[in-house]
Amino acid sequence: MVCYFSNTGNTEKVAKSILEGLEDKDVEILKIEDTDPLSLKNYDLVVLGSGIYAGKLHKKVTDFMTNVNEYPPKFAFFNTHQSPTGYQKAFRRIKNTIEENNSKVIGEFDCIGENLGIPKETTLKMLEKLPPEEKKKQEAYLEKTAGRPNIQDLENAKSFGKSLIK
Ligand SMILES: Cc1cc2nc3c(=O)[nH]c(=O)nc-3n(C[C@H](O)[C@H](O)[C@H](O)COP(=O)(O)O)c2cc1C
Repeated sequence: MVCYFSNTGNTEKVAKSILEGLEDKDVEILKIEDTDPLSLKNYDLVVLGSGIYAGKLHKKVTDFMTNVNEYPPKFAFFNTHQSPTGYQKAFRRIKNTIEENNSKVIGEFDCIGENLGIPKETTLKMLEKLPPEEKKKQEAYLEKTAGRPNIQDLENAKSFGKSLIK
């Protein structure tokens, strides 16, 4: 199953593309809010996703994982994040717990997601406070993240889904 938390829809788009990649399989997609942590043991593979907020997975994801009692044999992770750094360790604790419980992490996928959760005016105000060179750099980066995940990102997510069942 594909199980995810998404606040502004980016991670949800990626989740749906991963699902497409898992096409031939008997697969479910569920928001984490609608998933019973005690049901995880019934799946062969759980593909778990979240946006990154202040460098972390959403609390709903970490809380959910603390309530899992029996682990499925396999997990995979995905996330969407706006910054180029600082997201890589987000799953580390969960990964350790999973491995301590004799379950395997068979793949990880990440993707840029435009930050739609902060009003444009707030971003503009933040940019105004930066020294000119840094401001330019940040503006260029924000431009790069606009509209993402884009078509190519979603294709990549689909391929990731496919790679999990090969
Ligand atoms: C309150 C807040 C905090 C965020 N913190 C980070 C962060 O620390 N690092 C990062 O790369 N992106 C951060 N982002 C950007 C989100 O991770 C990104 O837009 C992601 O795609 C959101 O996923 P969602 O639409 O599924 O909720 C933050 C966004 C919000 C709204």
